[in-house]
Amino acid sequence: MPLYKTITVNEETSLAIWKVQETEENLWLGVTLTPYCQNRFNGMKSELHRKAFLSIRHLLANYGYTDADLIYDENGKPHLKDGNFISITHSHNFTGIIISSTEHVGIDIEMQRDKILRIAHKFTPFEEYRTLANTAAVVRKLTIVWGAKESLYKIYGHRGVSFLHHINVQDFKFDTNNTTAQIIFQGNLSNYKIRFLEFEQFTCVYATRDKE
Ligand SMILES: CC(C)(COP(=O)(O)OP(=O)(O)OC[C@H]1O[C@@H](n2cnc3c(N)ncnc32)[C@H](O)[C@@H]1OP(=O)(O)O)[C@@H](O)C(=O)NCCC(=O)NCCS
Repeated sequence: MPLYKTITVNEETSLAIWKVQETEENLWLGVTLTPYCQNRFNGMKSELHRKAFLSIRHLLANYGYTDADLIYDENGKPHLKDGNFISITHSHNFTGIIISSTEHVGIDIEMQRDKILRIAHKFTPFEEYRTLANTAAVVRKLTIVWGAKESLYKIYGHRGVSFLHHINVQDFKFDTNNTTAQIIFQGNLSNYKIRFLEFEQFTCVYATRDKE
């Protein structure tokens, strides 16, 4: 079972990453989907997507949950029926979930790709990156910032939040593996801790919302 990595963030919060290497048939072993998820699964044209979706159910099992413990709201945001917080991500052959009993959480896995250079201006003031040593470092940094903003979006969940104008990720050094971020939207300020890790040309970023 390719459970790739687990991270204990603190006593209440932890995350797990799966590296999808199984066949679709093998991923079905021990998995039962609710009618809602089965219906979604049936509509997935890509095998990669179906396998990612099934692997998430194995990550849930790692925490003692089944698909039936998960409900999706009208925006597609997942919730656990027992009131614990959850966030889900998939990117190519990596998938991840983060679960917390007390904190709002968000997670995002992204493949590091040069393509991000072309869209950077849409989500971050690009000037901040000019001091980095080379293009590879810029791509790494942009991917972390993008993942942070996706993670925050998954927590905050308001349509209309602009990655460029409403979410600010504090500058950071790679070796610290963490930073902070703020969302200022419609006069409300909320603060977040951001942590990140890199593996096999992928970046995983996860966020927790500070208690007020
Ligand atoms: C919803 C969104 C956050 C998903 O992120 P993604 O990188 O495309 O895909 P990921 O694999 O990381 O995440 C998908 C998971 O996010 C979760 N998700 C979907 N909608 C969500 C929402 N509104 N809130 C929280 N989580 C959500 C789901 O669990 C989904 O997986 P599942 O349906 O298989 O369980 C993303 O599509 C989105 O809408 N982002 C905001 C877009 C935006 O404002 N962009 C500005 C660019 S400048």
